[in-house]
Amino acid sequence: MNLILLGPPGAGKGTQAEGLAAKHDLVQLSTGAMLRAAVKAGTEVGLKADAVMKKGGLVSDDIVVRIIKDRIAEPDCENGFILDGFPRTLPQAAALEKMLRSAKRRLDAVIELKVDDKVLVERISGRFSCSKCSAGYHDTFKPTKVRGVCDTCGSKDFTRRADDKAETVQARLMAYYKETSPLIGYYFAKGRLETVDGMGSIEQVGADIEAAIENLAG
Ligand code: AP5
Ligand code: MG
Repeated sequence: MNLILLGPPGAGKGTQAEGLAAKHDLVQLSTGAMLRAAVKAGTEVGLKADAVMKKGGLVSDDIVVRIIKDRIAEPDCENGFILDGFPRTLPQAAALEKMLRSAKRRLDAVIELKVDDKVLVERISGRFSCSKCSAGYHDTFKPTKVRGVCDTCGSKDFTRRADDKAETVQARLMAYYKETSPLIGYYFAKGRLETVDGMGSIEQVGADIEAAIENLAG
């Protein structure tokens, strides 16, 4: 099964992709996480992406399309993947279609997560993740079970994203509405889109996504 999670910053794409990947034995492909890893490693791609990401803009289509093309060709993606944060522009969607066609694979569902802007800001401002295993948390909505200790790997090291500052979040939201939201119509027209209310609890949203996938598959 190959899925896309579509939604604004803070909508819960990463959180839900984590759960879906574990449940359906799929690989979570977050272009944001891959770009942050490239920035950290100081690669050529990382150097180019860093300045754009700091401002809350979108990294060039060429760069992200190449990253995804290489990644989905790897053997662990054979059983399927969840695209979390890709595609984000119409040219990226067209490139994805081309790469899936030539690999004789299909797109099973595009899940749009709908969340009010005010709630997005609340979610982003409380977000943190484990520095070691990248498990995602929230100060209020998803704290660690034991304070200061990662539930997944036991690490005591946590990090907050550089682009989660209030002023950058506004730019990221603008980029979403301007460049990414046209994909909602694009996938609706292809009969692949299911919209899920992302305002509920993490568990409720997860259950609604499962139902939406069933809907498209059935
Ligand atoms: P990316 O990393 O993809 O960031 P984003 O799209 O802005 O989305 P976020 O990761 O902020 O939010 P999310 O939807 O994953 O929410 P999460 O699950 O963490 O991209 C970063 C940057 O990289 C971009 O700005 C761009 O520069 C670049 N980039 C990436 N892909 C690109 C592409 N394809 N093209 C060009 N540039 C690209 O949830 C947020 C918080 O809320 C968490 O703390 C979580 O615990 C909590 N939470 C989640 N769900 C719920 C719930 N239901 N109730 C309560 N709390 C919840
Ligand atoms: Mg994310």
